[in-house]
Amino acid sequence: MQLTLADLAATEALARRLAGLLRPGDTILLEGPLGAGKSALARALLRALTNDPALEVPSPTYTLVQAYQTPIGLVQHFDLWRLDGAADLAELGWDEGEAALVEWPDRLGALRPADALSITLQPLDGDARRAVLEGWEGRL
Ligand SMILES: Nc1ncnc2c1ncn2[C@@H]1O[C@H](COP(=O)(O)OP(=O)(O)O)[C@@H](O)[C@H]1O
Ligand SMILES: [Mg+2]
Repeated sequence: MQLTLADLAATEALARRLAGLLRPGDTILLEGPLGAGKSALARALLRALTNDPALEVPSPTYTLVQAYQTPIGLVQHFDLWRLDGAADLAELGWDEGEAALVEWPDRLGALRPADALSITLQPLDGDARRAVLEGWEGRL
């Protein structure tokens, strides 16, 4: 499925719709270059999920993971850009039992969940983004 997101508000609207579909154990893989809007999408999704529009959602660039308590249980927000190897993932609390939003999911290697929703954000002119969604057959 391909969408054109005209601006940040459109990305946030997509994130809110995805928040309504997210269940415990789900993984959303966020792909795309630096500045594409992966963290912005995760932030809007977590704010919708917690029903807290002011929720602080920093980019987990240095901590690699940030966990959020939500009505569907713990949701982990990963930024794996600085991950050294998939072996370090267990230490970060990578656990398929919890829902996860993952930036730079190529770092997962063989641990990449086959049943994940993958969202690739591609910058277009200005604030526009192309979003390519793959996975979650029948759920979107
Ligand atoms: N359509 C859009 N979707 C997401 N972010 C957008 C959009 N238009 C502009 N932006 C801006 O682009 C930046 C994206 O940053 P960020 O989410 O940290 O990117 P990434 O996590 O992919 O590196 C933010 O400053 C955001 O406000
Ligand atoms: Mg980011």
